[in-house]
Amino acid sequence: MTIGALSLGHGAEMPLLGFGTWQIRGEKAYEAVRDALEAGYRHIDTATMYGNEAEVGRALRDSGVPRDEVFVTTKLPPERAGRERETLDASLRALGVDAVDLWLIHWPPRRRPVAVWQQFVAAREQGRARAIGVSNFGVHEIDELSAATGVTPAVNQIRFGPRLYDAKLVAQHRERGVVVEGYSPFKTTNLHDPVLTRIAAAHGVDPARVVLRWHVQHEIVVIPKSATPERIATNAAIDGFTLTDEEMAAIDQLGGRR
Ligand SMILES: NC(=O)c1ccc[n+]([C@@H]2O[C@H](COP(=O)([O-])OP(=O)(O)OC[C@H]3O[C@@H](n4cnc5c(N)ncnc54)[C@H](OP(=O)(O)O)[C@@H]3O)[C@@H](O)[C@H]2O)c1
Repeated sequence: MTIGALSLGHGAEMPLLGFGTWQIRGEKAYEAVRDALEAGYRHIDTATMYGNEAEVGRALRDSGVPRDEVFVTTKLPPERAGRERETLDASLRALGVDAVDLWLIHWPPRRRPVAVWQQFVAAREQGRARAIGVSNFGVHEIDELSAATGVTPAVNQIRFGPRLYDAKLVAQHRERGVVVEGYSPFKTTNLHDPVLTRIAAAHGVDPARVVLRWHVQHEIVVIPKSATPERIATNAAIDGFTLTDEEMAAIDQLGGRR
């Protein structure tokens, strides 16, 4: 699978396609991550809140894929503010790794976000997170962290998909050097939309792959979740076709704004 990656600085390279693991736990999570690594994903998205870090870690080890070939993200629930260090320690222990590739603040903390961010900066300096970022933040909330600490989040993981496409919002992130990572690519999309089915038929793929390919061609990181082995595999097979400019523009317009 050669889908490409984005640099996050400090040597961290984030593959544009990752595997989402929300709402899969226990043996299901273990099996899904094993299947994902087998299918070629080299980027796994988890979170303290998902309750599956131990299974993700076990799948990673059992897969035989070298640790440095897999990009692993986890996230701090904001209610753990003040307990950042112990929460990351617990994530590293559960995952069985010395460092995560990306640690995100899962949502904007209600109180003292800058203090939380300072702990993230410390974790990166200590080498326990190779890159640090946020999730579900507005650009002004990102600016607040940058202004207070001089360190801009490398990534903002936000709900995204063709219907939510907002070129201005993407540009605002890029001006700041923040990588946009989209989540819930399918839940935010009508996979029966005629625009998607037409484009999918033209390339001999399913609409789900068109949605993933659209993200990747926009250089927006995308992390589809599936607990179904066939879908885990087909969702990873998006390197064999390229959307034309006309097709990209038609998908951009599904949300009615550009
Ligand atoms: N930061 C945040 O606040 C946040 C919030 C939500 C999600 N996330 C992350 O983003 C990941 C993805 O988002 P998500 O899990 O919300 O939703 P999603 O990936 O958009 O959708 C998952 C759903 O789509 C189905 N699906 C998968 N492949 C399909 C295909 N080829 N055709 C048709 N349906 C398909 C899955 O069914 P089966 O599993 O039955 O195959 C599942 O029901 C999460 O797992 C998580 O890692 C982050």
